[in-house]
Amino acid sequence: MSNNVSKIALVTGANKGLGFEISKQLAKQEIQVILGARDIAKGQEAADKLKQQGLDVYPLTLDINNVESIQSAVNTIKEKFGTLHILVNNAGVMLDWTTSVFDITLDTLTQTLQTNLYGAFQLCQLCIPLMKASGYGRIVNMSSTLGSLTDMSDPNSHYDGVQSPSYRLSKTALNAVTALFARELRGTNILINSACPGWVQTDMGSEAAPLSIEQGADTPVWLATLPDGGPNGGFFNSRKPVAW
Ligand SMILES: NC(=O)c1ccc[n+]([C@@H]2O[C@H](COP(=O)([O-])OP(=O)(O)OC[C@H]3O[C@@H](n4cnc5c(N)ncnc54)[C@H](OP(=O)(O)O)[C@@H]3O)[C@@H](O)[C@H]2O)c1
Repeated sequence: MSNNVSKIALVTGANKGLGFEISKQLAKQEIQVILGARDIAKGQEAADKLKQQGLDVYPLTLDINNVESIQSAVNTIKEKFGTLHILVNNAGVMLDWTTSVFDITLDTLTQTLQTNLYGAFQLCQLCIPLMKASGYGRIVNMSSTLGSLTDMSDPNSHYDGVQSPSYRLSKTALNAVTALFARELRGTNILINSACPGWVQTDMGSEAAPLSIEQGADTPVWLATLPDGGPNGGFFNSRKPVAW
């Protein structure tokens, strides 16, 4: 860890896509990034890529579907870094792009909630005490406009043709996680917010998406580095509040 480093950040699902870009942008701000990856070989490869660009990130095994993996990752962070200041709950899956809500199986719903909701929830529970001890915390839950109840109810929504019922449900619930933790964190220097990155060119977003990965990372990185007194318990896209 470089001597200039003042903050420690954990980014989940950071071996590719938005998580990788968020890690890069945070590391460029002299933040010590812990790059979470469920497959450590992919995590190491991603860390090596950043190293070639002069950015020193620490790859860590973290499968957010696995309670023991989450606990073990947090223990390693405590032992190696002593604290944590920033958590970006980025890892996510979309398993049901074209399936109707009438046809979704409980198995798909459970798998989606496990990754997109429970892992993020457990990380909030385990990481916030570390942030409380250091008197500083920024948490970003990577959500989506597809999880917005307002957007779902709007027949004129740009996304009305998208199905993804279990994905939508997982992101709606993740937004509730943001609101619930924010409620109990009022008055502290720990700020938790949901981010929609927009529709972004990643493996999940596909090449048809209008936004580059750099553009998609902008709002989550902004929320991860908010100044003291910044917003708490909000939902943001393009750095602007959006409807739940
Ligand atoms: N792209 C978009 O247009 C868009 C729009 C709105 C919101 N989002 C949200 O942004 C976040 C990042 O999406 P992305 O577009 O970058 O997707 P992506 O390219 O598919 O990357 C997803 C990342 O999550 C990881 N992951 C999946 N399951 C995991 C698990 N159980 N434990 C740990 N890591 C796991 C993947 O690891 P592996 O490589 O091992 O699979 C990968 O690193 C997601 O939460 C997504 O819902 C994306």
